[in-house]
Amino acid sequence: MGYQVYVRSFADSDGDGWGDLAGVRARLDHLAWLGVDVVWLSPFYPSPLRDGGYDVADYLDVDPRLGSPAELDALIAQAHALGLRVLLDLVPNHSSSDHRWFVAARGDRDSPYRDFYVWRDPAPDGGPPNNWPAHFGGPAWTFDDASGQYWLHLFLPHQPDLNWESPAVAAAFDDILERWLARGVDGFRIDVAHALVKHPDLPDLPLAERPAGGGGDGDGGGGDADGDGDADGDGRAEVTGGIGVGVERAFERYAHIHDADQPGVTEIYRRWRAIAERHDALLLGEVYLLEPERLARYVAPQDGLHLAFWFAPLHLTWSPEAVRATLREGLEEVGPWLSWPLASHDRPRGVTAFGGGSLGAARALCLATLVCGLPGMPMLYQGEELALADADLPAEALQDPIASRGEPERARDPARTPIPWEPGPGWGFTDAEQPWLPFGDRRPEDTVAVQRADPDSWLHRYRALIAVRKALSELTGPEPWPVWFDAADPVVAYRRGQVVVAAHCGEQPATLALDGRARTVRFASRRAREGEQVTDALPLDPGEAVVLAP
Ligand code: GLC
Repeated sequence: MGYQVYVRSFADSDGDGWGDLAGVRARLDHLAWLGVDVVWLSPFYPSPLRDGGYDVADYLDVDPRLGSPAELDALIAQAHALGLRVLLDLVPNHSSSDHRWFVAARGDRDSPYRDFYVWRDPAPDGGPPNNWPAHFGGPAWTFDDASGQYWLHLFLPHQPDLNWESPAVAAAFDDILERWLARGVDGFRIDVAHALVKHPDLPDLPLAERPAGGGGDGDGGGGDADGDGDADGDGRAEVTGGIGVGVERAFERYAHIHDADQPGVTEIYRRWRAIAERHDALLLGEVYLLEPERLARYVAPQDGLHLAFWFAPLHLTWSPEAVRATLREGLEEVGPWLSWPLASHDRPRGVTAFGGGSLGAARALCLATLVCGLPGMPMLYQGEELALADADLPAEALQDPIASRGEPERARDPARTPIPWEPGPGWGFTDAEQPWLPFGDRRPEDTVAVQRADPDSWLHRYRALIAVRKALSELTGPEPWPVWFDAADPVVAYRRGQVVVAAHCGEQPATLALDGRARTVRFASRRAREGEQVTDALPLDPGEAVVLAP
């Protein structure tokens, strides 16, 4: 079971309003109690924070606001003592423009670091070398007056793309991996893992084709009027390569056939896999491809990534058909090498995405129950175990570049607010008057302390679910492979061996037909049902989820 810690919002140990590594260390017992095995730490490196720390100014150091390398050592030691493995967030597609490599490369065509980045002469009209758009709006190129060339950035201008054609870049990252692994780190979550390699000729991107039957959306391309990535309206997103936020609608007008998912990219993971194997380390890729047959290439069992995220469930419009199809598609096309994110710092929280309030919370737990029984590694995002909704934030509090670049309603900050640990000022997160990002509209019942004291809380339900996943050996490995129940049912269900996992994802009460074998409810989203005996029929209300075992 994985768990994503967004370090700046987890726990503040020194009262400056920023979550930090010592804060994480002090709260590791929460994760151990919850049943987590693998902790992924979002970037804590020195950074000008143009993009929440995904703009790294030094890959081998720690932002002094968040701690020090020695503090990371202490965190890792404590995690290992508790049986937790620690993954760092590696950001190899781009550095910060403050990184010493880019500072040296910019303005100097003869710099030994020039080739660390992607530079091109202007087009004949003086404009950018090609038509590539950046994820956060605008062109993917910025002109450097001093050297007379453009640099490439798939994200912000402050996030120049590294040139993975350069052997020196590959060698620099080998060294970064080796150094952290030597320090005791257990592996890496790899940011934007699908896009490191670009087509060597950097050709223009063609416009995306409209999907068959897709109506006009009046914006000159795509076919997805509401920008949720679902162009044909079946509840499942088809967009590829983007993190799915609004300013990416311009990004999604193009077919991203030259700026991402290039043949050579998996060579990098083959090389890293050899390093990882020597240290018994895990490689987990943020391969943001929503077409599973493309994702499959990255997780070659012997020499690819160990795991890749399957993001499609975070993009679905809730319905039993969409939930079932999205889970099955990833699993059947990619295999057991998936990690299942249940939310992330880039998307609305599950509660909010799936309808809000207790309905959204029940649906988020339905999805968690379904993925907890499947091959692969479920990944909780901090606060999902509390069924937190996105926080309500005033516009002036937003820090995400997506807000400042024109779409505040799509900013990712509402999913990134500090964790409420206990009622009271600072919510047990900080002693500072103000945290770095406001708490938003949290209530005492959202806190870890209140939920821990209540056996019927969401927190206890998530803990019980994780415990059942561990207790039933059928659910943790790749075998037995899931056998899905009737595809027309509003209850999404599958069987692994004799264990049945079911979640009612529809709207009206329904009954799941079983095979007459005696089973016990081992986990239920309604605690009172645990221990119930079931033989041939299981009535479920919408939003209920169960795990049954003989
Ligand atoms: C990944 C991160 C996201 C960041 C982007 C650019 O998608 O998860 O937060 O904005 O990469 O680094």
